[in-house]
Amino acid sequence: MKPLAALCLLLPVVFLSSGACAQVPSVDRGRALYENHCVVCHTANVHGRVNRLAISRAEVRETVEKWQAQQKLAWGTQEVDDVVEFLNRTRYQFP
Ligand code: HEC
Repeated sequence: MKPLAALCLLLPVVFLSSGACAQVPSVDRGRALYENHCVVCHTANVHGRVNRLAISRAEVRETVEKWQAQQKLAWGTQEVDDVVEFLNRTRYQFP
């Protein structure tokens, strides 16, 4: 492979991992993160309980922050946004 072609393959990895290219929240990335790290204890059904804890988008965010910290995942803003987006689209549907 030509050196230039190799650089093209590497660049997105560098930018994505550095968070330099902040992106719009992605439901698919959120789903993957959630399935990898959060379903050990609960499925997404916990977010649809009648007496659910999160009653606003801000509270969904707070709770996701709390759980990722509790799991020592060191998620950045992007990861938290992605999971909030996933949960809100698939469960909470807050405006
Ligand atoms: C160690 C087990 C455990 C892990 C791991 C875990 N959770 Fe939870 N989660 C719970 C329990 C238990 C509850 C219900 C708490 C309650 O009812 O007081 C909960 C509730 C929640 C709620 C609130 C649901 C509601 O009522 O609206 C959110 C949001 C949530 N978890 C997100 C996450 C996310 C995101 C992750 C992954 C980063 C995660 N959790 C990982 C155990 C866990």
